[in-house]
Amino acid sequence: MNARIRLTPIAALLEGALDALVQHVQASPMFHAVSASQAEKRLVSNTLKHIYLSIYQYQPHVTEATFTAVGRMPKHSEKLIMKMIVQQVEEVEHADMALRDYLRLGGDEALVKGPMFPECAAVAAMCHYLGEHCHPAAYLGFMYIFEALTPIMATQAQRIMSAKDYLPAAREFVDLHATEDIRHTNMILAVIEEIIRVDPAAHDAILFGLRSFLAVYPLPVWNAAYERAKAE
Ligand SMILES: [Fe+2]
Repeated sequence: MNARIRLTPIAALLEGALDALVQHVQASPMFHAVSASQAEKRLVSNTLKHIYLSIYQYQPHVTEATFTAVGRMPKHSEKLIMKMIVQQVEEVEHADMALRDYLRLGGDEALVKGPMFPECAAVAAMCHYLGEHCHPAAYLGFMYIFEALTPIMATQAQRIMSAKDYLPAAREFVDLHATEDIRHTNMILAVIEEIIRVDPAAHDAILFGLRSFLAVYPLPVWNAAYERAKAE
């Protein structure tokens, strides 16, 4: 999936987990329903709308948990910490970006004020747990999944949007993430390889972070968004 020719053992493990996840998502009833040629335009649009609202709910917590994890890193390498921070800084406005697309699609402003949907609270809680209470490198497991899965699914979403005559003005989040997160994935992989070189214990911590995160993301969040869209 990654264009790099020679994968390190950890990169191969992560990409294997990502490939399995993509297959799992594509085999889900929710994905089949929104990607089917006969899918109703309104259902597709409303599902994406509710996914944007979910992102708006959990993303600030993901950012806070990540900054906490980075703050707990050993302070031996300014360059390594810088790479971790730069990738996160580029995420800080993305909750607002998701909110803009939600509102452009006619999203209910009352839902924006909360309360959080349980599936989004579970994502927030898992990221806070991994960032605050586990090995500080564990966050890289969930961040890898966020960054590596998003461009794949954003590309799928673009294909569905084109087929369904989706509102062009509400493509900001998807169009940006179809390309930006490929660069972010490479940044995260470089950080992962470097941290494992200086701290071999980070290897298992990252895989723990990844496994734990997969219990709450993405299908629980996307399925709930789909159910809300169907109920509208
Ligand atoms: Fe990103």
